[in-house]
Amino acid sequence: MLKYRAGSGCGSGAARSGGKGQYAGVVATESREVRLAKRPQGEPGLDCFSFASVTLPDPGQGEVLVRNLCMSVDPYMRGRMNEGKSYVPQFEIGKPLEGTAVGRVIASRDEKLPVGTLVLSMYGWRDAYVAPAAHLRVVDATAAPASAYLGILGVTGLTAWVGLFTIAKLKDGETVFISAGAGAVGSAACQFAKMHGCRVIASAGSEDKLLFLRNELKVDYAFNYRNGDAREHLSKAAPDGIHVYFDNTQGTQLEAALYALLPYGRVAMCGGIAGYNVPVPGPRNLIQAVGKRLRLEGFIVSDHFKEMPALLAEAVPALAAGKLINRETFVDGLDRAPEAFLELLRPGAGNIGKMVVRLAE
Ligand SMILES: NC(=O)c1ccc[n+]([C@@H]2O[C@H](COP(=O)([O-])OP(=O)(O)OC[C@H]3O[C@@H](n4cnc5c(N)ncnc54)[C@H](OP(=O)(O)O)[C@@H]3O)[C@@H](O)[C@H]2O)c1
Repeated sequence: MLKYRAGSGCGSGAARSGGKGQYAGVVATESREVRLAKRPQGEPGLDCFSFASVTLPDPGQGEVLVRNLCMSVDPYMRGRMNEGKSYVPQFEIGKPLEGTAVGRVIASRDEKLPVGTLVLSMYGWRDAYVAPAAHLRVVDATAAPASAYLGILGVTGLTAWVGLFTIAKLKDGETVFISAGAGAVGSAACQFAKMHGCRVIASAGSEDKLLFLRNELKVDYAFNYRNGDAREHLSKAAPDGIHVYFDNTQGTQLEAALYALLPYGRVAMCGGIAGYNVPVPGPRNLIQAVGKRLRLEGFIVSDHFKEMPALLAEAVPALAAGKLINRETFVDGLDRAPEAFLELLRPGAGNIGKMVVRLAE
């Protein structure tokens, strides 16, 4: 049984003081890593992952040795386990997986990243690594716990932001429906939409998540998509229709949203988690898009990194003022990272907000 913890983030507080002395070498740093053991057919199991220990080299000139504090697991990683071409390179069998992680520099041969600096990288799924300093981004953990940069202040928050405002062009006062609303992207999207004066309808797969949506995120209407017909829920939640659908799931919720959308409505096609393991049929009512002149637009967040400053300008002060919640669900230890990832792909999954794997204090 996977143990979850709500918590106050990892890597809280300022970076530890940097050692300014001469680099004296690090002796044989061991790191464990998670590798792709085989490609899944349908639903992946734990046998798709293997663990290995490696001895890291000393950092060369311009490189640093980093110990990871926490790492992200994300639904898009399921696609990277498949064979074939995609918008992001596939994981390779026998090689370590990748993903975002926040870690602390423990040995440095680059003056810009002294020992103690907290850095964001794509070297997740491992305890430690050696990398060029130029590949890493410094994280300011005085503004928020470091793990927030895996969530609402990172790619997760940016996905919500871009989907709502750049793709769907959500305007103040409009009504928006957000599926997987209590997850990482969904909970950020619900809050950004509320901050912009919108009426928010959100769905989720468990009663705990509905309580979170109603009591903490203050959404206007929350429903369990596993309980009843999403189309009926939407007509009750928005009898006059919705302007925007932020789609994290596809499947039956996309179909229901197409019925509920108003003329000239917009759909931000963010993800389709209902079909990541086994493809789901497309909506049977796509013809709604013609008569209502709907716009359905997919997007990939990495095309929009230039929008990060706009997100941070609004989100950092809002987080500090308690106007924004960065809810996280923690799983402890690299051993549990595959379970934490697989959990995300289950309807009614155990994560509320961002699923984070804690690797070290
Ligand atoms: N376009 C981009 O650039 C981009 C970037 C990041 C993420 N995404 C997408 O955004 C979506 C959310 O990602 P996230 O990182 O925030 O994950 P998340 O929402 O924190 O976790 C995934 C959630 O999906 C729900 N789920 C699982 N299986 C489902 C199913 N069969 N039908 C409906 N819901 C299901 C579960 O919540 P319930 O309890 O509600 O079932 C689970 O908690 C994903 O589709 C992801 O691929 C897209």
